[in-house]
Amino acid sequence: MKTQLLKALVIPVLSLVLFSCSKTETTPIPQPDPTALQTAPPPVEAPPAPVVIPNPTGDKGLQLIQETDCLTCHKVDSKLIGPSYQEVAAKYTDADLDMLAQKIVDGGKGNWGDIPMAPHTGLSKEDAKLMVKYILSLKK
Ligand code: HEC
Repeated sequence: MKTQLLKALVIPVLSLVLFSCSKTETTPIPQPDPTALQTAPPPVEAPPAPVVIPNPTGDKGLQLIQETDCLTCHKVDSKLIGPSYQEVAAKYTDADLDMLAQKIVDGGKGNWGDIPMAPHTGLSKEDAKLMVKYILSLKK
C-alpha cells in the first residue's frame, strides 16, 4: 500500500521533471553567430618604445632632447630621418653652436639633404644651445 502511494506520487513527478528536461534539451538549429560575421577591427599597432638614452649626469641638453620630439627623427648613432647626432658632432665644432641652435628653432634643410627639419618655434634659443652642446659632446 505504501509503495503504491509512493509510486502514485513519484511517477507523475518524475515524468514532469523528465518532460521539462527534455524540453530544455531540444538542441536549437545552429544559427550563424552575427557577431562572428563582423570583421575584427584591425590590430592597433603598438606605439614604438620610447627611446631612452641613459642620462647619468643629468645633462640638461640631453634631458631637453628627450622631452622634445627630437628623437622621433634623430638617433645618437645611426641616421633616422635626420642625421645621427654623432654625425652632426663630427661635422661641427663649438663655433657652430649658435648657428645650429638657430637651425633647431627655425628648422631647415640643405646641410644633410632635402628632408627638412621641422621648426621648433616654442623652443628658446638657450634651450636649443644646451641641446647642441650635448650633441657636440658626442664627438669622438
Ligand atoms: C621632423 C624630423 C626632425 C625633428 C623632429 C628634429 N630634427 Fe633635427 N634634423 C632633421 C633633418 C631632416 C635634419 C637635416 C637638415 C639638413 O639637411 O640641413 C636635421 C638636422 C639637425 C641638426 C644639424 C643641423 C645642420 O644644419 O647640420 C641638428 C643639430 C639637429 N637636427 C638637432 C635637432 C634637435 C635638437 C631636435 C629636437 C629639438 C631636432 N633636431 C628635431 C629632422 C628633424
